Amino acid sequence: MDADTPTPLTAPLSALAFRRATVDDHARVVAAIPDWWGLPGTESLWRLLPRLFFQHFADTSTIVDDPHADGGLAAFLIGFRSQSSPDAAYIHFVGVRPDLRGHGLARILYERFFDEMRASGCRRVDAITGPGNHRSQEFHRAMGFTATGDTEVDGVLAWRDYDGPGEHRVAFTRPI
Ligand SMILES: CC(C)(COP(=O)(O)OP(=O)(O)OC[C@H]1O[C@@H](n2cnc3c(N)ncnc32)[C@H](O)[C@@H]1OP(=O)(O)O)[C@@H](O)C(=O)NCCC(=O)NCCS
Repeated sequence: MDADTPTPLTAPLSALAFRRATVDDHARVVAAIPDWWGLPGTESLWRLLPRLFFQHFADTSTIVDDPHADGGLAAFLIGFRSQSSPDAAYIHFVGVRPDLRGHGLARILYERFFDEMRASGCRRVDAITGPGNHRSQEFHRAMGFTATGDTEVDGVLAWRDYDGPGEHRVAFTRPI
């Protein structure tokens, strides 16, 4: 799959403001998800991002504000260090506003997260995505992740019933 054709930026990425997530960000992040994902079946994906992530994983999650869009949301990354496997970190959600895609913003968010997690002692980063989210799969491959699965779902290697009956997932991992 080819990368999305980038929209010319109206301002440089350096004009964007990176900061830690707060609980007040929860509403606008979940409000952005249906439009930003824009894939059939993702209308209720926001349910996988409850407020608790903004309460308990705020220090490892990043919000990017766009000062040129009334302080609107430009991108976000919700991630954390594993409690059970301290050598592992996990990226739960990443999203970039559609008109800002293809300019390296998600790469910046991931590389910042890799640096932070490496500094705290992690040695790998995990993530999952749906078999139908080819954009996410291509992005994770470009970011150096390896995909695993036990079966083919719609032509994609995925773990069958990974998150429950019918909830197949592609699992990604990458050393840091
Ligand atoms: C996936 C997503 C976060 C990528 O954001 P982005 O800012 O456009 O990504 P970047 O510009 O930083 O791209 C980083 C790398 O991934 C590659 N990539 C990104 N999107 C791609 C696509 N659709 N197809 C192929 N490659 C892609 C880029 O070519 C780039 O590779 P390079 O650095 O080696 O040149 C964005 O498309 C998005 O928000 N999608 C909807 C939400 C989603 O699916 N999130 C992931 C699951 S949680």
